[in-house]
Amino acid sequence: MATTTKQVLIAIIGAGGVGKCFLSQLTILAARRPTPKLNLCYISTSKKALFDQDYSAIGIENALQELAASSKAPMLLPQVADYLAAAPSKVVLVDNTSSQDVADAYPLFLSRGISIVTPNKKAFSGSYKLWQDIFTASSTSGAKVYHESSVGAGLPVISTLKDLVETGDEVTKIEGVFSGTMSFLFNSFAPVEGAGGQWSAEVKKAKGLGYTEPDPRDDLNGLDVARKLTILARLAGLPVESPTSFPVQSLIPKELETVASGDEFLEKLPAFDSQMEETKVAAEKQGKVVRFVGSIDVAAKSVKVGLEMFDRSHPIAALKGSDNIISFYTKRYGGNPLIIQGAGAGGEVTAMGVTSDLIKVLSQIV
Ligand SMILES: NC(=O)c1ccc[n+]([C@@H]2O[C@H](COP(=O)([O-])OP(=O)(O)OC[C@H]3O[C@@H](n4cnc5c(N)ncnc54)[C@H](OP(=O)(O)O)[C@@H]3O)[C@@H](O)[C@H]2O)c1
Repeated sequence: MATTTKQVLIAIIGAGGVGKCFLSQLTILAARRPTPKLNLCYISTSKKALFDQDYSAIGIENALQELAASSKAPMLLPQVADYLAAAPSKVVLVDNTSSQDVADAYPLFLSRGISIVTPNKKAFSGSYKLWQDIFTASSTSGAKVYHESSVGAGLPVISTLKDLVETGDEVTKIEGVFSGTMSFLFNSFAPVEGAGGQWSAEVKKAKGLGYTEPDPRDDLNGLDVARKLTILARLAGLPVESPTSFPVQSLIPKELETVASGDEFLEKLPAFDSQMEETKVAAEKQGKVVRFVGSIDVAAKSVKVGLEMFDRSHPIAALKGSDNIISFYTKRYGGNPLIIQGAGAGGEVTAMGVTSDLIKVLSQIV
């Protein structure tokens, strides 16, 4: 079949919180940009799929309802790659899952000429080999891969770091609050104006408001922040082996690491409040507040994640709500870092990063 540049086919894996918002943004994008025509040819969750062997366009506006009514099972990932590689137009795959299996298949998709945009951290923060395989496959085939929303959701963190590096600035240090959950917890546990609640009560409140994972230990173990730091460190030129290859401080008391459920964890957490209270008081005695941060010292080649104390006037201390803040210290910017701040989670802002990545890919492949 002859390849036409008048249309680009879009395939979507994952239709949860971010996937749904992406679909509504895609509807708007497709209407605003008549050329190339954006046609949806595949959409799936882990249980269902919607596609046609002849790549007929699926109506984007009704895709979710049609997917819910579909009796088709998703294809296996190698089959998805075969199907998309044989398409009559260029294809962009949108991975809106947090699946390691989908991430592991990126080198295959890219080597078959299929570009990828995604908020999924797994591919870029897993083994260094997977990272290398992804970018080797991309440069060999010419297929593009963008993942802005894998750090700081829609905040322009990755594109800014790439711009700094590619224009020849020297990034010396990156520091920030990379988790909306940790931001919310510490802004209410140790506010700059003093007081604040008991640690366990704040964790419970955060869970009630939907700010934590179903089991809050999945936030408190620091791994999510470590994954984001792995991505940024690699982009800054450090070949970090994995998110467990540098010091990551877990806020889960040792005794509660193995309790069976998130609910049992929350029930038993008050018995350990004194540990966090001591940290808070120690900071207060120095006129500071405690925050959970990640930092990359590029020259020293060191990456770490954990608790640090900050002066009350420091931008990290003054953060509000569940916002993220990321400071880039570079040779050009000197003593005053380039700072990016704002919502680092939420379906709409995360999908914005994915949609803007799609726009970048379209400008390069058409
Ligand atoms: N939500 C945010 O604020 C935010 C912020 C930054 C980054 N992200 C990232 O964005 C991605 C999506 O997050 P989300 O909040 O939308 O998650 P979600 O609501 O849990 O949705 C995930 C979707 O992916 C599907 N899925 C999972 N594994 C799959 C597989 N192997 N094959 C096909 N479909 C699969 C799920 O289908 P089933 O329901 O059938 O399992 C579901 O439709 C994640 O990587 C997340 O880390 C999210």
